[in-house]
Formats: sequence, structure tokens, C-alpha cells
Amino acid sequence: MSRIVVARRIPEPALDLLRGCGETWVSPHDRPLDTAEMHAAVAGADAILTLLHDRVDGALLDAAGPQLKIVANVAVGYDNVDVGACQRRGVAFSNTPGVLTEATADIAFALVLMATRRLGEGERLIRSGTPWSFSMFFMLGTGLQGKTLGIVGLGQIGAATARRARAFGMEIVYSGRRDADPALVRELGARRLDLDELLATSDVVSLHCPLSAETHHLIGAPQLAAMRPTAYLVNTTRGPVVDEGALAEGLRAGEIAGAGLDVFEREPTVHPALLDLENVVLIPHLGSATIETRTAMGLLAARNACAVLDGGRPLTPVG
Ligand code: DGY
Repeated sequence: MSRIVVARRIPEPALDLLRGCGETWVSPHDRPLDTAEMHAAVAGADAILTLLHDRVDGALLDAAGPQLKIVANVAVGYDNVDVGACQRRGVAFSNTPGVLTEATADIAFALVLMATRRLGEGERLIRSGTPWSFSMFFMLGTGLQGKTLGIVGLGQIGAATARRARAFGMEIVYSGRRDADPALVRELGARRLDLDELLATSDVVSLHCPLSAETHHLIGAPQLAAMRPTAYLVNTTRGPVVDEGALAEGLRAGEIAGAGLDVFEREPTVHPALLDLENVVLIPHLGSATIETRTAMGLLAARNACAVLDGGRPLTPVG
């Protein structure tokens, strides 16, 4: 019988599916296992299900042993995984694209609204008991109608975020390594720009590129300086795409008007300088955090694992 290791608790329907495919061990901790715990847990595994902060490298694959057939990441992003190390050992690797697109785009656009309309700040004001009253000039934000949203990385989540922005009357520009699908470009009325041009012309910049060596600190001090002082930055991809220290300084100095962050450079730690700023919205990596989406992610990862254990290919392989 195959042995399946699930590195952190996932929704029950996904575990039920896995139990039908093999003897399934689920970590009893609702936190990432440390390296020693992880190496001990995966010994003898045929399939491993990993989450966001689980590091999958050659050492982990070797700790599992030569019978290992698949690592199924319960996430679309896979910067936690050394895909080359999987390939070199003939271990299949899969992620969960598609099923979290709408939930993550909802959060990206929620951050756009929260940042531009100062919703977090307003909530804090009321909860602090600070006296307030309606006035023509009280807590004014920025409207979105007719403004430009710059999407960095027009993949599925970027496109879903752009669709929401179109419904709010925004124009779309995007940057990326290649031209987007012409049908999508037509649908969104989108224009492709160099990143520098996008930063200089967008009223809101939303980041959707995956984290890689090329996108690490893609947004740092020079890029923030290139943005308009009235512009906002939203990050729902991976924290290290933004230099958090530079962002805190840019927000403090008024180089940009505000930001909304769902992801952080050293999660769950947040740069202390950000915590003191009113013009940044901070939420704890909630992009895919709906019951429906997390269940769909778990099920897709489980189906990927079961397909390989049955001698087939993953439904959503990487590489
Ligand atoms: C992903 O899928 O990459 C998310 O960030 C985790 O939910």
C-alpha cells in the first residue's frame, strides 16, 4: 500500500480522497514542520503533500527515499520547491492553478479598495474611540473611476483582478515577459508597457508575478521612486517581490500614497516600520482563504497525488 504524507492539516474531503489511495499520515501540528520533523515524517513516503512554507529540496527528497513518486504542493506558487531536484530524481511535482484565481483576485481588489478609500485607517479610528464627525474633508480617499491599474504579471490571477478593475471603470496596463493572449488583451482593453513605464503611469500597481530569482525585490527603492506620489501598490503574490524596508521608507516619505499587502518578506513576521504607518493595509496571507477555495486546493492536490500513485500523470503538473 502506498504511503502518503500530508505535511499540514488540509480540508477533510481531500484527506478522505487520499485515504482511498493509500495509508495517509497527517501532521498533527497546524504549523510548518521543522526540517528534522519533516525529514522524519517523509521517510518511506510515496507521495508528499506540501504547503506554502514547506521547503522541498534535494535533502527532503532523499530523506523520503527512492520510492517517492510525487510531491503535490497545495498552492499555486511553488517558490518553496526545488523543481530541478524533483526532476533529477524522477519525482513528479504538481501545484494547484485555477482553483484559487477568483478568491485571490477578490483579495487583491479588496486591498485596492481598502488602501484607496482608507478603510483600515477608518476602522482603527472608530475602534480607538477617537472622536469624529462627518465633514466634507474628513478622511478623503481616491476614486478609481477613469484611473489606471498596472498589472505586473497578467496570468490568471492578474487577469481576474483586471476584470474586477474594469467593472470599477479603470483602464488596464500590464507588464510581463511576453505579450498576453490577444483575446484577453482585447477583453480588457489592456496595453503592454515596460515595467518602468507602467510604474510611472499607473494609479494603482498590483503585483501578480511569481517569485523567482528575477522577481526578488522587483519593487525596491528605485521603482517606488518611479511611481506617482498619488499611486498605490498592492501585493498578493509573494512578499520578497517587494523590498519591504524600501516600501516602508517610501510610504513614510510620501513617495507613494499607500499600499495593501497580503504577503510579507519574512512571513509571518512583518517589517516593524510598516506596523507604524497609517497608509498601508496589512492582512495575513488571506488570498485563497475561503472554505470553498481551500477545499478545492486540497482536492486538486489529492487528485494529483492519487493519479500518480495509480500510475498516471498529475492533472496539473509543473515542468
Ligand atoms: C498559493 O497558492 O500560492 C497561495 O499563496 C497560498 O494559498
